[in-house]
Amino acid sequence: MITLKEKYREYFKLGTAVSVGTIKSHAELITTHFDSITCTNEMKFSSLCPLENSYRFEHADAIAQFARDNSLALRGHTFTWHNQTPPWVFENTNREGLLARLKNHIEVVAKRYQNDIYCWDVVNEAIADKGQDVMRKSPWTDIIGEDFMDHAFRFAREALPNTDLYYNDYNETHSPKREHIYNTIKGMLDRGVPIDGVGLQCHISIYSPDQDQIRRSFELYAKLGLKLQITEMDVSMFRHEDETRLPAPTPELLELQAKAYGAAFEVFREYKDCVDSVTLWGVADDDTWLDYFPVHNRKNWPLLFDEQHAPKEAFHRIVDF
Ligand code: G3I
Repeated sequence: MITLKEKYREYFKLGTAVSVGTIKSHAELITTHFDSITCTNEMKFSSLCPLENSYRFEHADAIAQFARDNSLALRGHTFTWHNQTPPWVFENTNREGLLARLKNHIEVVAKRYQNDIYCWDVVNEAIADKGQDVMRKSPWTDIIGEDFMDHAFRFAREALPNTDLYYNDYNETHSPKREHIYNTIKGMLDRGVPIDGVGLQCHISIYSPDQDQIRRSFELYAKLGLKLQITEMDVSMFRHEDETRLPAPTPELLELQAKAYGAAFEVFREYKDCVDSVTLWGVADDDTWLDYFPVHNRKNWPLLFDEQHAPKEAFHRIVDF
């Protein structure tokens, strides 16, 4: 059977999200099919530095070592996010103090992995999902202001002159968020803020977005002249608001999922000149965040390999072309 990374060697890197557990339990699938990995949680602010001046690197180091041992490219995820940032970061501080904390965090982590990580999600999910405001309201905007992104990218470039710096977000195909992401990145480019790429998370479902929405989004983002990466792809079997529970995926759902993966990968291949990598947000259906969100402890089957680590119809649909 052809491997994903072989099939896509002339297109883009094929990545997957891993944890300190799955680099052991899913090692065979990871090293066989993928040439890039991202830590699901281990390189986030709250994982690395839960208390001020108290870093714990063992889990992130283990994944970096796994990448080195298996010649895997390693994506850094993520320096700046409203989620999974420890409370101490935002406490008893002001604009200057928080900028200093962010700068120090980026410097410490960037330097430790500068020879391992080829690109970083410098800022994650800073654009609002709805409402009139472009920027998501968060402690980053409340304490620093909306220019926190410019500072984060400048800190990252200062620490990492040769690493690709990405902005990463979800619902990237939904208007007006799509246009807000585009305009925000365009504004950063116009101000000379160092940024190399846009990460499109691609957390989708078998129901949406359709191929035309995905293609129109790529048409827009490609105009930025930056690298594009699909950073967290999975295809949920359920609509976001659907709380249905199923004992197993039906053949009909698996076929709809294969169609969704096939349609999306067609667009990725069309844009191979600007798509740098496509990363799945998990290796196989036995380990997915979608079992806990948006419905806690509701089984989902969003990935390319099933719970027994066998390739699904979705896998065949993206390699048989
Ligand atoms: O590690 C603790 C464990 O000690 C505790 O017993 C358990 C009970 O709650 O929680 C564990 O932490 C969980 C963590 O994942 C590690 O498994 C958190 O509760 C849980 O909220 C956290 O979820 C992660 C989620 O980000 C948090 O927002 C998912 O694993 C991770 O896949 C997901 O990834 C994000 C990307 O970083 C950004 N884009 C969206 C994507 C999905 O939310």
